[in-house]
Amino acid sequence: MKKPLINTVVIIGVGLIGGSFALALKKAAAVERVIGIDLDSENLNIALKLGIIDEAASSFADGLSQANVVFIAVPVCSILNLVKETVNYIPSGCIITDAGSVKSELVNACESLMPPGTHFVGGHPIAGTEHSGAAAAFATLYQNRRCILTPTAATDHDTLNLVTALWQATGSSVEYMESVAHDRVFAAVSHLPHMVAFALVHAVNRSAEEEENIMAFSAGGFRDFTRIASSDPVMWRDIAMMNREALLDMLDRYNLEFNNLRDRIANSDADWLEDFFKTSKRLRDGISQR
Ligand SMILES: NC(=O)c1ccc[n+]([C@@H]2O[C@H](COP(=O)([O-])OP(=O)(O)OC[C@H]3O[C@@H](n4cnc5c(N)ncnc54)[C@H](O)[C@@H]3O)[C@@H](O)[C@H]2O)c1
Repeated sequence: MKKPLINTVVIIGVGLIGGSFALALKKAAAVERVIGIDLDSENLNIALKLGIIDEAASSFADGLSQANVVFIAVPVCSILNLVKETVNYIPSGCIITDAGSVKSELVNACESLMPPGTHFVGGHPIAGTEHSGAAAAFATLYQNRRCILTPTAATDHDTLNLVTALWQATGSSVEYMESVAHDRVFAAVSHLPHMVAFALVHAVNRSAEEEENIMAFSAGGFRDFTRIASSDPVMWRDIAMMNREALLDMLDRYNLEFNNLRDRIANSDADWLEDFFKTSKRLRDGISQR
């Protein structure tokens, strides 16, 4: 039988992302034992019942003293405080890694908190659904998906190799990225689209106050486009707060395009509109073929 990569992983935040990480590692026999910590005791009970975790820690001290790796998968604004608390209990050699969708501020702050002989590596799996909690977790979430790790010049080589191997065991392909670049890229391809979807739902809802039954006509386009507006509000509040600068930059770029589009419609500029839509189609078709 294959030897597990590590003995004990402690998951802090046994929701969709933390729970799926645990299930995937167990499925790959990459870990011997999973201990769960979560603010929500009912969620922890569900995780136990579903076999996502083997035990729920009775306290931070109890769970963390046995950890080889701690995986933090809570909303991003809570990660730093949890790392501050976690470092008081982890044994020498322990690695802390996370799943937060925003990286630059976190990585620098967490790295500086680590006691000698312990290590931090930032991570961000590019996988998810609009559902939350342990009940939403599944073992194949990370299969054939990317996971971004954001090592720095100070990252320990063996630590990076181990965290990489854990993600590979979940079925992910791992890429390394500098954390500031990570935040700019995801502001564009993930955070901006979510903001647009949230705002669109509000805009259409305001029209619903004037036009009776407008939602009853909401078919394909509106539903497809706004699926991501059903994502967890706390998670997205934190992402918007933590990636503020990069997100504001993308919102400004979007507003420029959108205002231009509005002006062209107001001026009945049919040729321009057709050209604009042609270019959008070409760019979008290019993405799906890649
Ligand atoms: N859902 C996605 O699509 C996705 C994708 C990539 C990364 N992420 C990141 O993963 C993290 C977790 O997201 P999720 O979708 O699994 O959320 P989730 O709501 O499914 O799970 C989060 C869990 O953390 C627990 N929790 C919250 N604060 C806590 C605290 N202070 N201490 C202990 N437990 C706490 C909650 O009770 C919940 O069970 C977030 O940082 C998010 O940015 C999410």
